[in-house]
Amino acid sequence: MNKDLKILICGGAGYIGSTFCYYLKKKGYNPIILDNLSKGHKEYVMDFEFYNYDIGDYTSILNLIKKLKVDIVFHFSAFIEVGESVKDPIKYYENNTAKTINLLRACIDGGTKYFIFSSTAAVYGIPEKFPILEEFPSNPINPYGRSKSMVEQILQDLDMASLIKSVSLRYFNASGALPSLETGEAHNPETHIIPRILDVIIGKSDYFTIYGDDYPTLDGTCIRDYIHVVDLAEAHFLAMEYLLNGGKTEIFNLGSENGYSVKQIIESVEKITKKKVDFKIGKRREGDPPILIASSKKINEVLGWKANYRLDDIIQTSYLWHQKLNNR
Ligand SMILES: NC(=O)c1ccc[n+]([C@@H]2O[C@H](COP(=O)([O-])OP(=O)(O)OC[C@H]3O[C@@H](n4cnc5c(N)ncnc54)[C@H](O)[C@@H]3O)[C@@H](O)[C@H]2O)c1
Repeated sequence: MNKDLKILICGGAGYIGSTFCYYLKKKGYNPIILDNLSKGHKEYVMDFEFYNYDIGDYTSILNLIKKLKVDIVFHFSAFIEVGESVKDPIKYYENNTAKTINLLRACIDGGTKYFIFSSTAAVYGIPEKFPILEEFPSNPINPYGRSKSMVEQILQDLDMASLIKSVSLRYFNASGALPSLETGEAHNPETHIIPRILDVIIGKSDYFTIYGDDYPTLDGTCIRDYIHVVDLAEAHFLAMEYLLNGGKTEIFNLGSENGYSVKQIIESVEKITKKKVDFKIGKRREGDPPILIASSKKINEVLGWKANYRLDDIIQTSYLWHQKLNNR
């Protein structure tokens, strides 16, 4: 692929978007970052070309797309807290759905035909079978999942109208950090399990709370599919090649096909850090499915992608990153 491609990364100052920018840079590309820094980090932007815009700002984005002649847009920008989305649904529908419509309109009017969308396993709600296939019904159980599912539907309509070709990637639990540690997970508030367990390890929290240990799983705690952020980045790259080479609009799961319970994650953190994790058992959270494990068959067959990083790599890189982050 042409190294002069104009690749616009919306949400590129966040965890996954910034990791993808570094991944692209290592491959010789020069991504352009657009982020309103509502949740992102200016230091992740480093020497990338950067625009401090909101994706709702149609005019600025249209002008940018026209000026740069953007070839493809990656859309990582969203609010991501499920619990907050239940309390304040408008915030999520506005930022994740309505503003995405603005962004898509700017793409169409500016002449950008290719779009890669960060979707989520939350679109499945509580699936009945495992592993989860893309053809299972979208049945999200919270506004966050619905805000993403609506965008997937809009993207299907834009494809039908021959306006935009897209790939929607339904991430399972994104985790880990770039091994070179330029960037990593730093959400505020942090709701994700691995950084929260690591907070106990580095002494930032006294204990970790497990939300329920009476689920129908091997040890009673919820099972999730953890995927290393560099594996995620690689899938985005393959999705870009696929679209630019004439691939059709598609939706793919992005998971490892392996499930680990919360207690297994704790054990793995203890093994790698050689420290004890104090934990307490709390109440179940509303709407937490007992098990979420992806099938990666489709993305493997169509894009040739498979997860390379194992759980130990995820914990190891997260730990190193977490130490770096907290020593700043
Ligand atoms: N982290 C996960 O495990 C996970 C799982 C499934 C899906 N996703 C999706 O992946 C994407 C990236 O997640 P992340 O963990 O990197 O989140 P993040 O919060 O670290 O990054 C999101 C970035 O988008 C920016 N942003 C938000 N709203 C914006 C707006 N209106 N205009 C411009 N910029 C805006 C934020 O400032 C931030 O830099 C999100 O769309 C999320 O829904 C993440």
